[in-house]
Amino acid sequence: MLSPEERREIEAELPHYPNKEAVCIDALKIVQRHRGWVPDESIRDIAELLEMSPDDLDSVATFYNLIYRKPVGRHVILLCNSVSCWIMGYERLRRRLSEQLGIQFGETTDDGRFTLLPIVCLGTCDHAPALMIDNDLHRDLTPDLVDQILEKYR
Ligand code: FES
Repeated sequence: MLSPEERREIEAELPHYPNKEAVCIDALKIVQRHRGWVPDESIRDIAELLEMSPDDLDSVATFYNLIYRKPVGRHVILLCNSVSCWIMGYERLRRRLSEQLGIQFGETTDDGRFTLLPIVCLGTCDHAPALMIDNDLHRDLTPDLVDQILEKYR
């Protein structure tokens, strides 16, 4: 069930778009801001509100890789695995993150603090390799810098 706040915020977006369906990404972001991720029941409720099929909305949510369809940790680490970062040391960063956190891609630490996910180009290829934690971009990384950055979120 959508909370009254979620419903109100989604409905407030409607006048800004030519049709209800066009609000779908904003609606997903609103629910994720409130809940940390987007559960199946929210997909159904948003779809009903926007008069679209739950399957279509789920396709959008699944395609858009900043919408989480499973619970995530308090901090989400998005490690770029596109070509510039791959050339500039992505694999060393991935290994260090996995060692430090004890998780692989798609997993969350036991204490619920971090989720590690791959992401396509973060748009900062001239400062590769890069990752993002929550809304913070970290660039020109080395494994030792990754250690220092993780400390700030512990
Ligand atoms: S390839 Fe990683 S930021 Fe572009």
